[in-house]
Amino acid sequence: MSQTLETDRTTGTDGAVELHERHLSVVVGGQNRRFHYVWLRDNSWAPQDRVFLSSERKAATFDIRDDIAPLSARYDDRLGLVVDWNDGRSASYSAEFLCRYDYSGAPRSARRHAVRLWDEQPTILPRVAHADVVATTEGQLAYLDAVREYGAAVVTGVPSLDGEVERFAETIGHVREVAFERVHNVRHDPTGYNVAHTPGELKPHADLPSYSWPPSVQLLHFLVNRADGGESTLVDGWACAHELRRVAPHHFDTLVRTPVPYQLFSADEDTWAENPMIELDTDGDIKVLRFSNQLAQPLSVPFDRVEAFYDAYRHLGRIIDSGRFRHTFKCDDGDLVTVHSHRVLHGRLPYDPSSGARHLQDVYMEFDDLLARRRVLRGEHLPTAAQRPGNEETA
Ligand SMILES: [Fe+2]
Repeated sequence: MSQTLETDRTTGTDGAVELHERHLSVVVGGQNRRFHYVWLRDNSWAPQDRVFLSSERKAATFDIRDDIAPLSARYDDRLGLVVDWNDGRSASYSAEFLCRYDYSGAPRSARRHAVRLWDEQPTILPRVAHADVVATTEGQLAYLDAVREYGAAVVTGVPSLDGEVERFAETIGHVREVAFERVHNVRHDPTGYNVAHTPGELKPHADLPSYSWPPSVQLLHFLVNRADGGESTLVDGWACAHELRRVAPHHFDTLVRTPVPYQLFSADEDTWAENPMIELDTDGDIKVLRFSNQLAQPLSVPFDRVEAFYDAYRHLGRIIDSGRFRHTFKCDDGDLVTVHSHRVLHGRLPYDPSSGARHLQDVYMEFDDLLARRRVLRGEHLPTAAQRPGNEETA
């Protein structure tokens, strides 16, 4: 049962509105778009329902009537969809708003931003000049786009100054502080507190899965890199996990379901957390990869699940260690490597500390803050007519 209300357009052309029992459809931009009444009422940008500048919701979603429905609905060329609700509210929804938030067409996965998983023989490692990133919107967006889509980027020509990595982080967002110092020095140090201070190989890993929410971005700034060896290795951990899922879905599933304890501690600090190595989002896509062989602690799962875990873990580890999906490269003085560290693993080959200096400093950030900076630079965060159709008088 449906009816067309108050429109001077024919169904199938822009502006046609049809009311159904629990939803309506409206043709905008040549496409028929469907919205549930409860969704539309919840997303009213009427002044009584939203704070104008911040878009914060004032109306309580749980107060929406169970039988919420339009008394009338029409399409206005200036205001867009105009609805008079049966709870007394009138709200309008612009064409831009309806197109941006339409959830009735393509599946969710097609509406998310593309992640470019690395090929088996990766050839692209985006590089952006430091001067462009810190001084130009275009350069900063190129850097943020690379980290967002590719999971890694190298900023070149960063001044080799103590603490410069922290200053760079603050130009992009905020430093994520953790135990064991705000800025970490990685150089040969026999008294150091972890394996990074040895000259040995570091297998690809992510730092600090000993936090339930490990740092999601890591910046590694090479102040000087003159020693023989010590090439950097980056591995697309998500590409490796996808490969595991393709060839051995039962192993993938085991790593999704098995809690793994990780710990890093010193004389004064302790971090410990137990989580699955592969964490999925609500769409079943990989959200966080926690892979650090050096920080993994004794497993404590039911007896009959232990060997299945080791089979799965070793399978993933062998894919990661195989060299597929891996960049190996020597950083120059002043290179700053950025990784989305819930995805891309970092490591290094062994080096000879007697052959020259090697010193890098690193800090952590949060991926959300990089995405936020990107939205700000693109102007996507500001309230627009899309959110505030018909409410111009409240400006
Ligand atoms: Fe590390």
